[in-house]
Amino acid sequence: MAPRPLEITDLLWSIDADGTPLAVPQAEVVDRLMALGQRRAARIVSAIPAADGVLDTGYVDALGFRVHCELQRLGEELQLARRVAALLSPIIEMVRLNSTGPVRIVDVGCGLGFVVRALAASSALGGDVELVGVDLNPLLVAEARRLAEREGLTCRFEQGDAFKPDLAIRDGARCIVISSGFVHHLPESGLAEFFAAQSWLGVAAFAHWDIAPCLWSTLGAWVFHYARMREPVSRHDGVLSARRAYPASKLQQAAQIGAPGYDIQVLEGSRWHPRALDVLRPIVGTRP
Ligand SMILES: C[S@@+](CC[C@H](N)C(=O)[O-])C[C@H]1O[C@@H](n2cnc3c(N)ncnc32)[C@H](O)[C@@H]1O
Repeated sequence: MAPRPLEITDLLWSIDADGTPLAVPQAEVVDRLMALGQRRAARIVSAIPAADGVLDTGYVDALGFRVHCELQRLGEELQLARRVAALLSPIIEMVRLNSTGPVRIVDVGCGLGFVVRALAASSALGGDVELVGVDLNPLLVAEARRLAEREGLTCRFEQGDAFKPDLAIRDGARCIVISSGFVHHLPESGLAEFFAAQSWLGVAAFAHWDIAPCLWSTLGAWVFHYARMREPVSRHDGVLSARRAYPASKLQQAAQIGAPGYDIQVLEGSRWHPRALDVLRPIVGTRP
């Protein structure tokens, strides 16, 4: 099996187990990309300022912020927060019926926390729903917190690893784990483990939105990223995301292995009436 190509944003930061950012040697990143034949990506990384062979943290952080702002715009175009709320509402209702206390939604790999902030701003899910965003990258977590504070929102953000969701999940039975544009960042060998981490904590449900890979999504990603995005990194990673995303069958198989006690469905759009919005579709698992 050919190795999966890499997204540049997966290589620009290195975070240790305590969440502390580590120096990233530029040559190491360029070599990894070249070894996979990703010449354009290697050229983009070579153009990033570096000192003593290490990528300039200030530059990379500012770049990361701009790239995630562009990603947020894509989330807005795809009406992600509204669709997340529509899917979660009946699941939350079930959780409320089965037990008492607040319900918690945890968005793993939340980036700038766009979905969590939008849900908090709309109050679409009800006052008893706690909204928590988790991301590995402390820069994005700090920015998500700052934006939520400025917007006066009731939600919170934590630095943490999606494979160790116990940081944000306390009472699994009243918790729903979500993500958007995140699952394709995981290695194929880690997919079942990702679902297993949620199953092990006994979450009420999970719903992970990611790109449905097909000719149309790749073409659409290319058009959208070249028309609407300015950063070469966004354009590169955005188009590659559509190519790297996992097909429904692979997600379903991994979820069934990792979370065998859950009812699992990938909610693909109609093949005969494709809608642009369905380029992002969720894999949903609910505990019977
Ligand atoms: C493509 S971004 C998606 C951001 C956001 N969900 C959105 O839709 O705009 C993927 C995010 O996953 C985060 N990430 C990658 N691996 C992670 C892990 N193991 N645990 C938590 N977050 C992770 C990255 O830092 C990045 O912010």
